[in-house]
Amino acid sequence: MARPLHADIDLAALRHNYRLARELAPGSRALAVLKADAYGHGAVACARALEPLAPAFAVACLEEAQTLRAAGIQRPIVLLEGIFSADELEQVEALGLWVAVHSDWQLDALLAHHPRRPIPAWLKVDTGMHRLGFPPAQAEAAWQRLRAAPERVTDLHLMTHFATADALDPGYFQHQMAQVEALAGRLGAPLCLANSPATLAWPRAHGAWNRPGVMLYGSNPLEGENDAARDLRPVMTLRSEIIAVREIDAGEPVGYGGRWRAPRRSRIGVIAVGYGDGYDRHAVDGTPVLVDGQRCGLAGKVSMDMATVDLTDLPGAGIGSRVVLWGRDDSGAVLSVDEVARYCDTISYTLMTGILPRVPRYYQSS
Ligand SMILES: Cc1ncc(COP(=O)(O)O)c(C=O)c1O
Repeated sequence: MARPLHADIDLAALRHNYRLARELAPGSRALAVLKADAYGHGAVACARALEPLAPAFAVACLEEAQTLRAAGIQRPIVLLEGIFSADELEQVEALGLWVAVHSDWQLDALLAHHPRRPIPAWLKVDTGMHRLGFPPAQAEAAWQRLRAAPERVTDLHLMTHFATADALDPGYFQHQMAQVEALAGRLGAPLCLANSPATLAWPRAHGAWNRPGVMLYGSNPLEGENDAARDLRPVMTLRSEIIAVREIDAGEPVGYGGRWRAPRRSRIGVIAVGYGDGYDRHAVDGTPVLVDGQRCGLAGKVSMDMATVDLTDLPGAGIGSRVVLWGRDDSGAVLSVDEVARYCDTISYTLMTGILPRVPRYYQSS
């Protein structure tokens, strides 16, 4: 029998979450963000599942777009960071991609290129993330240069990225919004602003296009409560089994460094999952897992291929018991990846993108 660890990917849940993103912003079109192999879920399978619904996709780089095209995906694909060198423009054109333009050198390269058909381009403005994009004072001139070259570029949009759309304090988000709104007002530019948190919580940010990513995979990125986010369904369920059980006396340590010590006589289950699969080694004692649909806590440090769990209060659990590290158990019980991420002092994004290729993905469509 094979090692029991695998990631089930629920494509019906993916479609449900995409529809939710669309319903929350009925005046916008939602492109589905599929970068980083669709946040670890498998970009080709996710694109195929979403292609009947989503008018466009977004990825981080040309190589990711090439993978989708090679698999027969035909929808427009936006390169969120644009080109990394001028020679990529040939492929951009050949594959029918859209580009973000965040820097002078990209703008120069685009305007020096002679495409057979103009390339759709989204000008990125830095309203406060201070990562990529033209400062607002320079964005206007960049926009006018693009506008003046209709034989080279088309479908111009302004895009910006929010640093704090997920936060309880709306102050900085509103500062970014005010900047992009003022600029768009002057330019008459259509907008692409909203990531998942802004799609969920900030209708003011809904533009001609939105760019939901993590919510499509069922994760709620918001710090605060949000009614819509309650309808999100987990797409990835990371499943394994208990492969060994032992009883230890009170005071005995478990695992590397003996970090966890049994407070009483305890039953310890060994789960086939470890950091060699991408499960986070920062998971603290007590990090929740579902065993046969019941919550229990990790006991001891995660090792490369195994993790240990305290089964003392689950006397019925034993070798072969079902384990869900996050996602939905067969019983219907759900353990959200967002909750697990808090125990690992990280975010759902890193947990999902971190699941390594040695973990097989099994796709379900209904
Ligand atoms: C430019 C850009 N737009 C949209 C997204 C999607 O963000 P989220 O996954 O929070 O929806 C990302 C992700 O990091 C991004 O970098």
